[in-house]
Amino acid sequence: MTTIANESITVTALGNGIGAQIDGIHLREPVPPEAGMQIMAAWMQHKVLRFRGQQGMSTQQLVNFSKLFGELDRAPTPANKTGKPYLAEFPQVTAISNIVVDGQPIGGLGSYEAEWHTDMSYNEMTPSASILYAIEVPPSGGDTWFCDMYAAYDKLPADLKTRIAGLTCVHDASRNSAGMLRKGWKEVTDPRETIGAHHPLVRTHPLTRRKALFLGRRLNAYIPGLTLDDSEALLDALWQHAVRPEATWVQQWKVGDVLIWDNRCTLHRRDAFDASTRRLMHRTQIAGDRPY
Ligand code: SIN
Repeated sequence: MTTIANESITVTALGNGIGAQIDGIHLREPVPPEAGMQIMAAWMQHKVLRFRGQQGMSTQQLVNFSKLFGELDRAPTPANKTGKPYLAEFPQVTAISNIVVDGQPIGGLGSYEAEWHTDMSYNEMTPSASILYAIEVPPSGGDTWFCDMYAAYDKLPADLKTRIAGLTCVHDASRNSAGMLRKGWKEVTDPRETIGAHHPLVRTHPLTRRKALFLGRRLNAYIPGLTLDDSEALLDALWQHAVRPEATWVQQWKVGDVLIWDNRCTLHRRDAFDASTRRLMHRTQIAGDRPY
């Protein structure tokens, strides 16, 4: 593990090329420009950053910190019966939670497992980053895993690299990251009919200029121009290669953790947890661009 100390903050690598912890900064206060530049540089290098001990941060302070990374997206419309935002006063913040108050969930995703995915890759314009702030965490489970998609591309066998050059993939919009069918969407029975954005299988990060494998999510994915069998076989090979355990890092949450990940060069997934325990996260999302 490397620790780099700067004047104000320290950056400690946590995983094998993915994940780092930033210490020495309170996110409740405005981040000084110098520290902001150090954080950006660390983020570009480590792809996922963790800030521990940030308990007591208000929702407005979370919004202020999030703006360091770019313009915020509006929170998605919740897939619950009411369709009302979880945080009515903060249109850019949503809640991820299994907690139910007066019969109404106070956040999305429940206590289910969320499979490997990149946030909202089924849209034409995909978010550059997501930020989660842990307010309540269960005693066990609910860990969040991250996978390095630069490494997935760099280490791809040469024949696979050649095969996927110039190919696109359809990213299914019909299901959420816990695999649930969204309201008003039809079950996909043939991936050739999947509805969602078409993105290149290899994207270039707009800031680092590095190439990353861009898979989005496996369910109902399809590579246009290939037979269904060939598309399935190629996607299976790419996924098997990408999510090798040695390319992943796991976040075990503590109350007060703030995590930011780069959706342009990582995948993430979440473990299920005991539904009788409580987990509450507030989440912001940074607007991005059309992958190229
Ligand atoms: C997500 O998949 O965006 C949620 C991650 C989490 O709840 O830890």
